Amino acid sequence: MYLITGVAGFIGFHLALRLLKQNKKVVGVDNLNAYYSVKFKEERLKLLKKNKNFEFLKIDLSKKNHLKKLKKYAFKIDKIIHLAGQAGVRYSIKNPTTYILNNPYAYLNLLEYFKNSKKLRLILYASSSSVFGDVLDKKNINKPISVYAVSKLSMEQISYVYSNMYKMKIIGMRFFTVYGSWGRPDMSLYKFTKNIINNRKIDVFNFGNHLRSFTHINDIVDNLIKLINKFKNHKSSLNRVISIGNPKTVKLMKLIQHIEKNIGKKAKKNFLPLQKGDVKITKANVLKEIKDFNFKFNVEIEKGVKKFVKWYIDKNY
Ligand SMILES: NC(=O)c1ccc[n+]([C@@H]2O[C@H](COP(=O)([O-])OP(=O)(O)OC[C@H]3O[C@@H](n4cnc5c(N)ncnc54)[C@H](O)[C@@H]3O)[C@@H](O)[C@H]2O)c1
Repeated sequence: MYLITGVAGFIGFHLALRLLKQNKKVVGVDNLNAYYSVKFKEERLKLLKKNKNFEFLKIDLSKKNHLKKLKKYAFKIDKIIHLAGQAGVRYSIKNPTTYILNNPYAYLNLLEYFKNSKKLRLILYASSSSVFGDVLDKKNINKPISVYAVSKLSMEQISYVYSNMYKMKIIGMRFFTVYGSWGRPDMSLYKFTKNIINNRKIDVFNFGNHLRSFTHINDIVDNLIKLINKFKNHKSSLNRVISIGNPKTVKLMKLIQHIEKNIGKKAKKNFLPLQKGDVKITKANVLKEIKDFNFKFNVEIEKGVKKFVKWYIDKNY
């Protein structure tokens, strides 16, 4: 049985959908926090609840006593995909505490709860490309430029301890800007699409010069399934951190052009300087991951944006 945390969130929802389609049993947890629309999260959950192999538990992982609600399932769970957490770099400037509480602290509670499980084979958890800070050199990641990045780096360090101390197999996934249908309303693609459709100005930070490894959710889920299948079986002590991101980078202005083209309307742009905490470039180096796990990144940005805009318009938001 799979445990997916953050199952009402963007990535958790898509992964759960895929696993349920494969007839797997999934127990999903989420605290349904109000970082963005709770209604939107509930809509995702509604779709998941249509499947009889899905169970949902409202649990706040930052509250230790909430984990007791997992008791009924704990001895059945052999794979945990931990995607719950506080996402977003910009929000961490004004709200640093929530990042420490919902990222390393909540994660520690989860590890403590499962550390002696005889059934558990694998934990995958969400880290972030933000751990690279403003450096592209993979070796030089100890220069975070936001509390968000610090919160993810500490999760990576905690994993190292637990994998050694309790012989756990733990793999961190540094996601690079994930986008697609049911995507997060606080992210650029969603915000730009919404504002362009509604004739509102869009804020274009760093004067549109950001470069991002935009990665489509379908590629994320495909590659996650490959990881799970590779590591799901035996129990062992393993700590590894990998990158999951499309190695092709796209300029923010190019993303905007694709959205404009699909909506059929020009954006009113409000050009702004670089925001504190934002990295200028993310570029996924996944050569090792492609070799080790046969990762593939098939969805080109043109196609991905087209699909997203269609989904957004069809949803009639
Ligand atoms: N989407 C991306 O581009 C991206 C990039 C890098 C890293 N990540 C990381 O991947 C993970 C999933 O991202 P997402 O885009 O799906 O975000 P999301 O905000 O859509 O999903 C996270 C979910 O976790 C839940 N949650 C938060 N704190 C919780 C707690 N204490 N207990 C239980 N549930 C809690 C939220 O209610 C939310 O539904 C996050 O950890 C995020 O930081 C995402």
